[in-house]
Amino acid sequence: MTKRANFGSKLGVVLASAGSAVGLGNIWRFPFEAGNNGGAAFIIVYLLCVALLGLPVMIAEFMIGRRSRANTAEAYKILAPRTQWKWVGRLGVLTGFLILCYYGVVAGWTLEYIMQAITNSFAGHSKEYFTQHFVEFSSGYRPLIWLVLFSLFTHFVIVRGVEKGIEQSSKIMMPILFILIIVLVVFAVMLPGAQKGVDFLIRPDWSKVTPKVVLSAMGQAFFSMSLGMGCLCTYASYFSDKTNLARTAGSVSLIDTFVALLSGFIIFPAAFAVGIQPNAGPSLVFITLPNVFQQAFGGAPVLAYVFSLLFYVLLAMAALTSTISIHEVITAYVHETWALSRKKAARIVTSVCIVIGVFCALSFGPLNHVRFFGMSIFDFFDYLTAKIMLPTGGMLISIFAGWYLDKRGVFHDELSSDGHLHNVLYRTLVILLKFVAPVAIFLILLNELGFFI
Ligand code: TRP
Repeated sequence: MTKRANFGSKLGVVLASAGSAVGLGNIWRFPFEAGNNGGAAFIIVYLLCVALLGLPVMIAEFMIGRRSRANTAEAYKILAPRTQWKWVGRLGVLTGFLILCYYGVVAGWTLEYIMQAITNSFAGHSKEYFTQHFVEFSSGYRPLIWLVLFSLFTHFVIVRGVEKGIEQSSKIMMPILFILIIVLVVFAVMLPGAQKGVDFLIRPDWSKVTPKVVLSAMGQAFFSMSLGMGCLCTYASYFSDKTNLARTAGSVSLIDTFVALLSGFIIFPAAFAVGIQPNAGPSLVFITLPNVFQQAFGGAPVLAYVFSLLFYVLLAMAALTSTISIHEVITAYVHETWALSRKKAARIVTSVCIVIGVFCALSFGPLNHVRFFGMSIFDFFDYLTAKIMLPTGGMLISIFAGWYLDKRGVFHDELSSDGHLHNVLYRTLVILLKFVAPVAIFLILLNELGFFI
């Protein structure tokens, strides 16, 4: 058997994991969740969720991956042989598969908007135009072309392998992403009238915090940090034995959170500057923003052009490093567990995801009448994965690490990388994973299933 792939450097480990975490979740979903849930107060609750739930679960996924050195389905079979824990891994692969199918659709849209930005098609238009354009575009057949193209980009990186593909691409894209974000934030907060948007983000209105807000913040933390389906677990199977798991999880969480907050500082000041309320869903990024750019820089068409183009390039790159990580979970599984070559495995994953993705994409138009529980195919995939399967996975992962692995000393060994261990850190983490995370996540689930409404 050939030696299993590894990330080549510490920086590569952090950038690849951060590449997975930073995605449409940060730039598109976070702002509208924050907007719907009261701004600053939501953000503070979100930060608590990242620290108390996300971070421990991330460390748990890292442990499971590095200890087993296998894809996420195999990992549980290795660490807990002859138990039913293997279903947690399988559930993860299935979740990843479903996420990739619909995430690719939105990722594809970003390519359309890059094209629009390049050809300067946004220039001089108003809100009505952008709404109509989005509806016409997303309900037509053009998204299929972008879906296929985006899937091929992802495929191309995956077949190049762990070090040359995933690590290398993250090392190129992540720094560009950071620079782009900072440029955009500077632009946005300097807009006349931006102050209201900034206030919205930093002045908490505590009366807005309801149980539902707390639970939304937790759900957003899981989605944004790529937790609950073994994504970071798969990446950790490529970490070296020396990688400090707690520190890496700390850096990745910080980067992910930082990018989410910065996107807030791009989107809200820009929206408030032109008097647009942040509203829900795909519209914030794909309808409101082009409009915001046009109005905000109405007097300076060059700035409007540059700002729009930069923004959609940023969105596409963030989405790409995330689709790569989801694809890798499934490819590693097909490659190792079904014993196919990596190339063949990747081909199967890409093709099947495109086929199912087509149905998700068409559910905005020709297939809109197909409904599951009243939801379109796309919405159903999103609901099923983000709101049901990820929290379930996250809960099971924390129970597995906190109870099963801790009893067998694995937790202790992995956290210390078999060397020195910080005792307070260890104890805190065990408590969070044994009790706090499972209970809290169980509440998210009940909430999503409508128990508290
Ligand atoms: N975290 C990514 C984002 O914010 C999406 C993502 C990548 C993801 N891998 C994941 C979400 C695993 C859940 C689980 O867009």
